[in-house]
This record gives sequence, structure tokens and C-alpha cells, in this order.
Amino acid sequence: MTEPALRQQIVTLREQIDEHNYRYYVLDEPSVPDAEYDRLMAQLRRLEQAHPELVSADSPTQRVGATPLAAFDSVAHEVPMLSLDNAFDAADLRDFDRRVHERLGLAAEQPVIYACEPKLDGSAVSLLYEQGVLVRGATRGDGSTGEDITQNVRTIDSIPLKLRGGGWPQRLEVRGEIYMPKASFEALNERARAEGSKTFVNPRNAAAGSLRQLDARITASRKLEMCAYSVGLAEGGGLPPTHSEILYQLQQWGLRINAEMAVVEGVEACLDYYQRLGAKRNELPYEIDGIVFKVDELALQQRLGFVSRAPRWAIAHKFPAQEEMTELLGVEFQVGRTGAVTPVARLKPVFVGGVTVSNATLHNMDEVERLGVMIGDTVIIRRAGDVIPQVVSVVEARRPADACPVELPRSCPVCGAAVERAEGEAAARCSGGVSCGAQRKEAIKHFASRKALDIDGLGDRLVELLVDKGLVQNLPDLFSLQHPQVAGLERMGDKSADNLLAAIEASKATTLPRFLYALGIREVGEATARTLAQHFGELEAIQTADEGALLAVPDVGPVVAQHIAVFFQQPHNLEVIAALRAAGVHWPAIEAPGADTQPLAGKTYVLTGTLEVMSRNDAKARLQELGAKVAGSVSAKTDCVVAGPGAGSKLKKAEELGIPVLDEAGLLALLEG
Ligand code: IVH
Repeated sequence: MTEPALRQQIVTLREQIDEHNYRYYVLDEPSVPDAEYDRLMAQLRRLEQAHPELVSADSPTQRVGATPLAAFDSVAHEVPMLSLDNAFDAADLRDFDRRVHERLGLAAEQPVIYACEPKLDGSAVSLLYEQGVLVRGATRGDGSTGEDITQNVRTIDSIPLKLRGGGWPQRLEVRGEIYMPKASFEALNERARAEGSKTFVNPRNAAAGSLRQLDARITASRKLEMCAYSVGLAEGGGLPPTHSEILYQLQQWGLRINAEMAVVEGVEACLDYYQRLGAKRNELPYEIDGIVFKVDELALQQRLGFVSRAPRWAIAHKFPAQEEMTELLGVEFQVGRTGAVTPVARLKPVFVGGVTVSNATLHNMDEVERLGVMIGDTVIIRRAGDVIPQVVSVVEARRPADACPVELPRSCPVCGAAVERAEGEAAARCSGGVSCGAQRKEAIKHFASRKALDIDGLGDRLVELLVDKGLVQNLPDLFSLQHPQVAGLERMGDKSADNLLAAIEASKATTLPRFLYALGIREVGEATARTLAQHFGELEAIQTADEGALLAVPDVGPVVAQHIAVFFQQPHNLEVIAALRAAGVHWPAIEAPGADTQPLAGKTYVLTGTLEVMSRNDAKARLQELGAKVAGSVSAKTDCVVAGPGAGSKLKKAEELGIPVLDEAGLLALLEG
């Protein structure tokens, strides 16, 4: 290839990759599959390796530098990075609005126009673009001086190395928040727990910690994202006259802005927005700790000015805290379905994340050691969204003199069998197996649960009662329960006994994926059960598959394959399965995926907003059972959007693209029939 042709090919590849990045990160509408993106990157890498003289700093291959730093340089902010005043309730926010009116000399009934944005819980960043090229990234520091983290911000894919289009100021400083999405945070901590290394308290600390790495390769591995929320310095070029238009302009230049951003009139509309986002808070893929309201018009912002370190034209309306302090009263050990013995913290009740919490998981003894927690300690509890409450750290300064260590019991608190800890495993386990009452109870609860055989009315308490009374010892016993036995139980009458027995009878007609899931094989969740059923078609084939055959199933790795094989090697488990089938548990044969069994095959669905009858996860699983693909964002390839209350940009997009939209009732009708 001639040199100009080669140069041209490299430029074209870079443009294609930048375009895909823009669509993926900024517009949230991926345009090509990951594999295609990877191919383009590999091709560019190959060409650049063969012709190092053609490598440029803004090439997408140059995000991760090779040499770690010795220390961070400091950066003086030319325009100080301010912080925000807080409002803790509606009255505070109305006061803020009143002050804005007074200072601007506006009549009370004349509404101020505000831009509303989620307050992302991460780390503030300043990005300096000169001639459209990213030349420096800095932390906020104390607001006047921060640290130079250029090589780390370059690793974040949602930060463009050069701006798109044109017309930008020659020196443009974009400000925003770098944050770690909830899923990345959970995965990072999960990995840390498995490796026995330190976990992060919350996504904010994880983001800040990841940004302050001297070795950019570590930052690159952490899956951080960035969202722009303002402009600091702008020299040699103009900007639009309102905050919201500036953000839209930044978006066109290739920066990500928050999809929830809205412009509203007046403080009451701000309060509505706060309520609406508050209801959505748990569903958002990132953590927010409040809403920021900003006077939209820059001319008005200028008239309002600043007090000390905060602007008078903006305020952060906070959500209830997700972390609080309380006292660890004791630690109990719970035995789960697979025998795992889990330490559970008993706490002095504390209001956190919107509910009163009196128990929190301590995961396992490694975690207890890592936290260094003792009974009597003051601990920090975190409850974010629907995640179970966690003990995230200990306030050692408050440790009382009589604090005592947490000890793993030698024998199972339920059945008395020895508690064992396998080499390399974090969990301690009760060795009692099916003879342990706790394991049996948990196995039965799981078997009856909604995603398993879905036995209506057979809740946790009733299972406890049935096992305690000796009416049910193992799974097949459920199917020989008799009316008088059930009707004689506490708080059970004739009618409820009838209902329960009818529900048990009805549960016999199930599906192979549900049955597999219901067996409670370690590491076999709903999704794995579904792929196993699809892959093998029938139970017998799964029962007899060796680890090699299991490894051929998509998503089944060596650990899962081993758990499955071991499960089906246990004579007891085979007896239980035979007895269940003898009792009448059955399922339709799985046909090769075709038009009949997979009515939604080849269709792409997107779920958005709140579903009220079923959870989003259930809706997703049911759609997948019918063959649909469930995607995270709306694009021209979407066939249908299911929108519940609170749906925002995805719904808007669907309407713009003319994609059919269903509400939850419509979805239920579709799933029914
Ligand atoms: S505006 C002068 N907007 O909250 C205005 N800040 O104390 C300065 N933050 O550390 C900030 N999301 O990093 C603004 N949408 C948003 C924000 C936001 C998060 C952070 C910011 C700063 C703190 C404000």
C-alpha cells in the first residue's frame, strides 16, 4: 500500500471507532456489535504497530499509557471549582427559589427557569481541550488546586480524546463527574471479596480511588464513566446563552451528558422532578445522591454571583442518606440452601436508605476479618436501593473496652454437624447436607419460590412450619401432603388448605428450565437453567452429561460444570428427582427453537420506566423465554419498547423513531398469549 493510502486507512479506522464510541457512550445507542468494534480496533492496532511513525496521541489505541507515574503534578484551576449548597427538604428548596427571586427582583408569580440534573455520586473532574484536543485532566482538589490525572482520564472511553465537529472555543475546560456504574462497582467488590482483597465502601470511593492510581492500567481496568455538567474556562470562542443549551452543545462535541437532564419552570416543577427521579433512583445504573437545580440563563447566573465557595444560582437537593452509623449488637450465623454458614450482623435499628435496618450481611469470615469488626463496635451500614444492607466499615475510634471478637461456630447452629471451610473458598459450610434442617428448609423454600415451581401461598413461614412439624422432610413430600394435615396448621383453615393443595397440584405442570432452577444446584440460576434446557433439550441428557459436555454450553464455565456434574452424581439427588417425577411433576418437551415455541424470536425489546406487577428482571426473563432479545437502549433496530410510569428519554426516542410502545398491561397480555 502506498503511504498516503495507508495514512488514509488509519484515519478512516480512527473515525469509525470514534463514531462508534460516540454512539455507544454519548448517544447510548450502540451502532455495531462489540465484535465488530473489536475487529476495527485490532486492525488499527496492527497497522499502527507496523508503522509506529503514524501513531498519534489522539488515536483510540493510545488511551492507556505504559509507564506508571511517580507522583501526580498539581494543577492550579484558572477558574475555581466550586461546590454546592444543599437543600434537605422542600422548604429549603422553596427558600432557595425565594432568594433567587429577591436577588433578581422578580415578582413571586414569575417562574424562574431551572435546569434539573441528577447529582452523580463520583469525583469531580476538569478536562481541558485546546484546539479540540484533550490536553489535561485534573481533580477538583480543594477547588483552587487539583492533581493532574491526564493519563488516567484518557483511559475512560466516554471521554473524547478530541472533540467532534467544530466551532469549539480554542481553550475549553469541560467539567463533570467521573463515576463508577453500580454494576461495575458490585462486580469490582465481588472480585475483591473472592480474592480476599480490600473492598470499596461505595461507588464514589471506588471512582475516586480508581482515578488516583499512578498506574493508568489499573484505572483502565475499572470501568469508569464521565458525564459533563458545566464549562469552566472558555477562551477563543462563544457558547450558547443558557446552561442547558451549553450541555447540548457539549453533547454535540462528543461529551456525554445526563439523559435525565430537564428544563422546568418554577420551583414546584423542580419538586416534581425531584419526586420523579427519587422514584427512579434505584433503577438508574449509577448512584445519585440528590438533584442539582441550576438557574438556566447564564445572564441571570452572572447577576446572582457567588457566596464563598458556592454559587447563588444552584443548589443540590439531597436524597435520604444511604449510609448511617449504628451499633453491632451481635452476630448470628445463618445456614443457607447450599449449607453456606453466613455471619449476619444484628444491629441497633437505624434508618438508612429510606427504611429501618436491623440486620446486615457480613458475607463470610474473610469479610469479618477484612473489616476487623468486633461485637460492640460502631459500624457504618450501607443500604443502596434493593441491595441487602451491608456493613461497610468500622469506626475503630469508638470501639468499647468490652468489644469481643466474632467467631465462626465449629458446629452448625441448626443441626450440629461440623462446620467446614474448603481450601480456597470464602464460605464456611455445614457438612450436614440434606440431614441439616436449615438446608432442607432453604431447599424447599427455593423449590416453591416464584421463579422455580411457583407454588402460590407456600411462603417461607409455611415451609418452616411444615418442616418443624415433620410434615415435609424433602421436596417430594410436598406432593403427598393431605388436607387434614395442612388444615390443622397454625392460622390455616379449610379454605386456605384447599388453596395450598390446589397450588401444589398446579405446580406439577412446569417447564424444564424452572424445574432445573428449582433443584437448587449451586451456581445454576434462572439464566443458566434456561441455557442448559435449550442446549440439552431433556433432563436425562443433562443428568448424564460429563463436565466436558457441560462446558460446551454457552456461559457454563469449569466451576459451574463441576457443580452440575457433582449434583447429578449424588444418589440422593437422583432419588429426589425420580420421586418428584413419580409424584407427577412434568414439563413439555423442549422443541428446537422455532416459530411455535419462540414467538418473539429475532425481536428486540427494550424495558424502561417502572413496572408495577412484575419486576423488570422477571419481564426480561419472560421475554427471553419467548425468544426475544432484551436490549438496554432504543435504536432503529428495536422492535418494541415496554414503558412503565417514569419512562423518560427511551420512551421519547421510541416515539421519535415510530417504534411500537406497550404499557405493562400490554406486556402482560403479550406474555399471556
Ligand atoms: S454543578 C458551581 N452538577 O457535586 C456548580 N455538580 O458540591 C458546581 N456533582 O463535587 C457543580 N453532579 O462534582 C454540578 N449535575 C451536577 C453534579 C455535580 C455531581 C458534584 C460535583 C461537586 C459536588 C457539588
